[in-house]
Order: sequence, then C-alpha cells, then structure tokens
Amino acid sequence: MLKKGFLLLVFWLGLSNLALATEGEKLFHLRGCSGCHEATKDSVGPALSTISQKYNRDLNRLMKFFKGQADPIIWPDKFRIMEPFMNMLKQMDDKDLKVLGEYILSF
Ligand code: HEC
Repeated sequence: MLKKGFLLLVFWLGLSNLALATEGEKLFHLRGCSGCHEATKDSVGPALSTISQKYNRDLNRLMKFFKGQADPIIWPDKFRIMEPFMNMLKQMDDKDLKVLGEYILSF
C-alpha cells in the first residue's frame, strides 16, 4: 500500500515537472527567445545549455539578470543584441520569469 502511494507520488511529481517545463517552453517560443537561442548549439545567442552551465543552474541568479539587477556574464560584448528583449522580460511577472528560467536551466 505504502509502495503504491510512493509510486503515485513519483508519478505525480514527474507530471508536474513536465507541465512546468512545457509552459516554460511555450513562453520561450511565444516571446521569440527561440529565434536566437538554440538548445545545445551557440548561434546568435548562447545555447541554453551554455546559459545553464554558466549560471550553475542557479534560478535566483538568472532571475536577477531577467529583472535587470545583474549584469550579463556570458557574452557581455554582445549584450546589445539581447538588450531590446530585456524590456519584455522586465514586464513579465515573477511566475512567468520563474517558469521561463526553469526551462532554460533544464538544459
Ligand atoms: C535577437 C536575438 C536574441 C533574442 C530574440 C533573445 N536573445 Fe537572449 N541573448 C542574445 C545574445 C546575443 C546574448 C549574448 C549577450 C549576453 O550574454 O547578454 C543573449 C544572452 C542571453 C542570456 C544570458 C545573459 C548573460 O548572463 O550573459 C539569457 C539568460 C538570455 N539571453 C535569455 C533570453 C530570453 C529569455 C529571451 C526571450 C525573452 C531572449 N534571450 C531573446 C540574443 C537574443
């Protein structure tokens, strides 16, 4: 009985993670981020895997960057390309930023 409950919990946690990831992925495409950021290959912007590594999967640190409270750390000399999108990020609420950040850091 206990084991069944545990399996159910694991299943439920898995599902809720998935829901979170897909919402972040949706936002990522909807907001046009995917135009410059690929999953694992650096293109116009750094790959999501590069961002994830440099940020040590630290969501709080990434949130600070999103809110304009921290300087870019990856390619600061190319920040001008990213800059117009910072205004969009600053207008998004914490919940959306968190979901977006979790999606990026899942790579
Ligand atoms: C027009 C191309 C372009 C678009 C669209 C774009 N980015 Fe970027 N992004 C860049 C470039 C170039 C860099 C590298 C400069 C830098 O490190 O800040 C970058 C860097 C970043 C970084 C790393 C910041 C750091 O510390 O250096 C994050 C995180 C990021 N982008 C997230 C996003 C998100 C989220 C979106 C969608 C809202 C987005 N980007 C849309 C071009 C883009």
